Amino acid sequence: MAVERTLTILKPDCVRKNLIGEVIRRIQEAGFKIIAMKMTRLTKDTAGGFYAVHRERPFYGELTDFMSSGACVPMILEKENAVEDFRKLIGATNPAEAAEGTIRKDFADSLGENIIHGADSVENGKIEAAYFFAESEVVANKA
Ligand code: CMP
Repeated sequence: MAVERTLTILKPDCVRKNLIGEVIRRIQEAGFKIIAMKMTRLTKDTAGGFYAVHRERPFYGELTDFMSSGACVPMILEKENAVEDFRKLIGATNPAEAAEGTIRKDFADSLGENIIHGADSVENGKIEAAYFFAESEVVANKA
């Protein structure tokens, strides 16, 4: 299986609930290597750019308000089959539909406030990673 990279964001609800450590522990225990990480705060505009594919959706305003409501923690993760395995680890977008033991099932309150983002493909992960990180901030590139 190919080694892949994926992009995740610990969302503002994850930070507010003091769950950064617990969620990172689960991610590392599942075998993902963190190759870039920072804490930042999106503005309504930068959140809007990140979620531009959803611009026409009715929840776009709510989504960008929430994503700019506090600090978040984007990370680039590396592992074999990372994209699919990470989406399994976090569970369905709607926590009410997420499988037992997944991060969203255990910690998320709602579809809008669902603790964590995971890229849906290697290509989108690359685009999303470039949104947060310069090449020089990706440690694996410096080894
Ligand atoms: P995420 O995986 O980060 O990608 C887009 C986000 O939009 C998604 O998680 C949800 O948090 C959010 N989202 C999707 N559908 C809805 C909805 N119907 N109402 C509010 N937020 C939504």
